[in-house]
Amino acid sequence: MNNKQCILSLIIFIWAQSSLAADWPKFELTSTDLAHSLKAQTIDISHDPVYKSAKQYQAYLLSDIIKKLAIPDGQHSEDWMVVFTATDGYKVAMTYPDALQEQGYIAFKDNSADSNNWQSFKFGKKTITPEPYYLVWSKAGLDEWRYPWPFQLVTVSLQPTTEYYGAAAPTNSKNPQVKNGFSLFSRYCIRCHSVNLAGGTVGPELNIPKNVSEYFKEQELAGFIRNAPAYRAGTKMPSFEALISAEDTQAIVHYLKQKKSEKVQ
Ligand code: HEC
Repeated sequence: MNNKQCILSLIIFIWAQSSLAADWPKFELTSTDLAHSLKAQTIDISHDPVYKSAKQYQAYLLSDIIKKLAIPDGQHSEDWMVVFTATDGYKVAMTYPDALQEQGYIAFKDNSADSNNWQSFKFGKKTITPEPYYLVWSKAGLDEWRYPWPFQLVTVSLQPTTEYYGAAAPTNSKNPQVKNGFSLFSRYCIRCHSVNLAGGTVGPELNIPKNVSEYFKEQELAGFIRNAPAYRAGTKMPSFEALISAEDTQAIVHYLKQKKSEKVQ
């Protein structure tokens, strides 16, 4: 690449980045004067999965923050994701309806911390805190795949599902089973698997060059998805038997089969 091409591609890159960033409704948790625009509450958590104990926090209601972000006119809220971004750029998303379904809170202070706002916890080899913001759920026993607990949050934004998941999203989303299947796939699978090279890399790509349904026996595919450890000793794929019904597993299979005819080049 010569210098001119290099500068041109840099400009295109920056343009693409800024147009992406500008398009989606976004709430900056750190730069907005939250204390003035939102009402702080004291909330009790009977079992915090990060600290593995009961906790009490000072927090803002998540729905109050989401209500400040407008979905563009004529769009359906079920086609949008709520995206939480952490200080290091790590992103966690949940569907818009899920984000409003249960009582979620954006916590900013741990009431049992003495001088600081937070107590530290072990995260891998590091000792960290959830500062500045931490998403928590007041109801006990919620599915943590569906209602995640990300910490060190700096922004809450909205993004269309098809944008957020790119080529993994179904093009033909009219079919309700495919739509439901993708919604489940994005909740339980995409963090480890890519489809059309969009998604995680812990597990194998499931569509390129061959769709998994092109080489797996169909009746075994659903069985494997629900309970991989019953097929392969030592697999890194967890069992989903307690979380995903047989019917929902079929919807995931429908989605995966649909992607066979939507391969990226
Ligand atoms: C924690 C990571 C993880 C999650 C979450 C996960 N998988 Fe997997 N999956 C794997 C790994 C790793 C493999 C590779 C082989 C193995 O370990 O059995 C795999 C294998 C597979 C295979 C077999 C692919 C092949 O060609 O052998 C399918 C199909 C599959 N996963 C589908 C799913 C679906 C659908 C979900 C969501 C319900 C899911 N996985 C969730 C990690 C994961």
